[in-house]
Amino acid sequence: MKTEISSDIAAASAWLKQGETVAIPTETVYGLAANALNPDAVLKIFEVKNRPTFDPLIVHIGNMSHLEALVKNVGDMSQRLAASFWPGPLTIIFSKNEIVPDIVTAGLSTVGIRMPNHSATLELLQTIDFPLAAPSANPFGYISPTTSLHVYEQLGEKIPFILEGGSSSVGVESTIVYCNNDDCTVLRLGGIPVEAIEEVIGKKTMVSLHSTSNPSAPGMLSGHYAPRKRLVIGDPEELLIKYSGQKAGILSYYRSYPTPYIEVLSPEKNLSTAAKNLYHSMRRLDSSECEIIFAEWVPDEGLGRAINDRLRRASLGSASHTLKV
Ligand code: TXA
Ligand code: MG
Repeated sequence: MKTEISSDIAAASAWLKQGETVAIPTETVYGLAANALNPDAVLKIFEVKNRPTFDPLIVHIGNMSHLEALVKNVGDMSQRLAASFWPGPLTIIFSKNEIVPDIVTAGLSTVGIRMPNHSATLELLQTIDFPLAAPSANPFGYISPTTSLHVYEQLGEKIPFILEGGSSSVGVESTIVYCNNDDCTVLRLGGIPVEAIEEVIGKKTMVSLHSTSNPSAPGMLSGHYAPRKRLVIGDPEELLIKYSGQKAGILSYYRSYPTPYIEVLSPEKNLSTAAKNLYHSMRRLDSSECEIIFAEWVPDEGLGRAINDRLRRASLGSASHTLKV
């Protein structure tokens, strides 16, 4: 199948209306989208990504009236979070209406919904009368794409169309929250910092991350977002000595190191810039000639928590989990 990369929204819309999959830009990462209300179209997402069907998808909407059609009731706290952060990198879990097919939610009675903050995709959502189910547009388990070229490199020839939308401005996936009447739980750290959520709801959240053992987030596998190469986290200087026989690549927060394979996430120590660059830098190291990747932690606050979470998962998902480091 020939894959077209274009900013033609009408063409993207036409493919989606025919029940095809289309890669869409969002502010977090590119998604692989299909009509969320058409189970045959959604099945294609799982096939193209090689994604297990027990891993539920996020549904993307372009306006609030779609939310009411998809979910049973919007609680007070969820309402406040949506009003504060949509469009934006926050996915909220709701009780789903029957209209949402089981394949979207992996059979769960809940559905994750967000309104993405990207002008092309918001415009696309206005031209169709259905919401879009979309996981990140990468093969299951690999690093998420933040440019159309990343999508093309891995899913080219498998999908008809990639909607061009530049580089993703946030660079890590959405934060996922679930709220009941009294409390909110963060199920995945992401583009909205936990502190910002706590400010809106006026109380502390619980943070309950991962894993296959957590039935409310079956897809949060700990070894996710992983490069092919082994990724070890620690002090790069110490690691350079410890693994001195190997050609090392370094993923650093702000410093430079004496190796030809170096990616500095943000020389000015800005966590938003670091998040924006994270996956792109990981990909460059993964496709460079280095043999092993050393990454350093960033400050564990704000967006830094999401970055550290992705580094941790990348190290678990890469070959390193077989070795004690
Ligand atoms: O930023 C993002 O969220 C990107 C863009 C494309 O929107 N999407 C994304 O989707 O990261 P994906 O499929 O890579 O991650 C979605 C995760 C699932 O793995 C699952 O853990 C969680 O969202 N999820 C989806 N529905 C859920 C539900 N009903 N309950 C709990 N977790 C859910
Ligand atoms: Mg993903």
